[in-house]
Amino acid sequence: MDKLLVRGGKPLHGTVRISGSKNAALPVMAATLLTPGVHRLRNVPRLRDTQTFARVLELLGAKVSFDSNLLTVDTREVNSVEAPYELVKTMRASIYVLGPLLARFGRAKVSLPGGCAWGPRPVNLHLTGLQAMGAVLEIEHGYIVGRDARLKGATIGFDVVSVGATAQLMMAAVLAEGTTVLENVALEPDVTVLGEVLVGCGARIEGLGSRRLTIHGVTSLRPIDTAIIPDRIEAATFAAVAAMTGGTIRLENVMPDHFEAALRKLEESGCALQRAADSVTVSGPARPRPLNVVTQPFPGFPTDMQAQMIAVCAVADGTSVVEDTIYLDRFTHVPELARMGAQIELKGNVAVVKGVDRLAGAQVMATDLRASACLVMAALAARGETLVDRIYHLDRGYESLEQKLAALGADIQRIH
Ligand code: EPU
Repeated sequence: MDKLLVRGGKPLHGTVRISGSKNAALPVMAATLLTPGVHRLRNVPRLRDTQTFARVLELLGAKVSFDSNLLTVDTREVNSVEAPYELVKTMRASIYVLGPLLARFGRAKVSLPGGCAWGPRPVNLHLTGLQAMGAVLEIEHGYIVGRDARLKGATIGFDVVSVGATAQLMMAAVLAEGTTVLENVALEPDVTVLGEVLVGCGARIEGLGSRRLTIHGVTSLRPIDTAIIPDRIEAATFAAVAAMTGGTIRLENVMPDHFEAALRKLEESGCALQRAADSVTVSGPARPRPLNVVTQPFPGFPTDMQAQMIAVCAVADGTSVVEDTIYLDRFTHVPELARMGAQIELKGNVAVVKGVDRLAGAQVMATDLRASACLVMAALAARGETLVDRIYHLDRGYESLEQKLAALGADIQRIH
């Protein structure tokens, strides 16, 4: 298993080009199943997760090719509706194929994702929404099985704001018969952009960017030809690297509005920011100020930045409080950070972080994607050497992370 060896303590400086967004790319990849044709997705990040999703599409009969960051998906000969356990267990987002398969073929057999490293992560809203649209879904031997579904418009109100369920039902509704109304939908850019991509293919969706979507079903769509938006979490992570190491990093190819909540917190921590249309320059303070952070659905502070922000707070000049209201158990990075000298007390879903002057290098273990980013950040700011084990988690969601950090002056090396 690959590890990262980091010799920390240097401020990072320079320019980094932000890759396409993982969480925007995955639902658009699923949407290629809605209509037979040759789909072109540009700016797709080369990550383990996009490769896993490509494999899911291939197993369904699609022809998939990556040429640098251009992904071409030919869905003309899709001839299977089964997404197997072996792939779904490695990536929960595989469940995105369920709605498109039901919408196009009336059938689907998709493994039910199990638990996740930081909690149950249910998919009940996906299933009850599709059922409200007329799908009969059974759980058989660990699989969600739908047969003879003819999706019809329905009014569905979400009691929890869910990125995945919003995207799933939007994809199902564009080809359903009649009108679907989705209430209390997610506003994350990944979801809104999926809607815009579908509209570009002939879907009729009203209310994008608001909490209520009205979707009039159409009988066919054109193939997708789009560029994936920049990854707001990767961008915010590099911004946090500047905050933590006291360096100056210019983020290129970004949409600053998409990570404004994180930028505002970094400003509060003492960072100086220069925003432009598609770039932001972040200069970190000598030592960050402590923060109060509460994760919320977009446009609030993202749960996908909670771990990285705890890393910043770990070296802040005072005590910070970080609460995750989306995933109550997403704190596996806390005991690992403690091995580097961080002083963090966890009370349920609230971390009380007493900033220390300096972290110290240690051997630590990555436990999930964002926790891994947090540990790499801590390593960059720490005194001495840190060995981060199990970095396959990082490869799921950060394109060329160590090359990008090395180009900013980090002493970082992958060990096979
Ligand atoms: N929820 C339910 N029932 C459902 C679905 C969700 O109760 O059927 C709850 C969840 O338990 C959670 C909340 O709703 O408390 C929000 O979950 P959501 O459905 O929005 O999450 P997701 O779609 O499974 C996506 C991202 C995650 C990110 C979350 C929250 C993708 C592929 N994944 O997951 O990204 O944390 O939204 O913003 O888009 C990551 O990239 O590291 C990552 C985990």
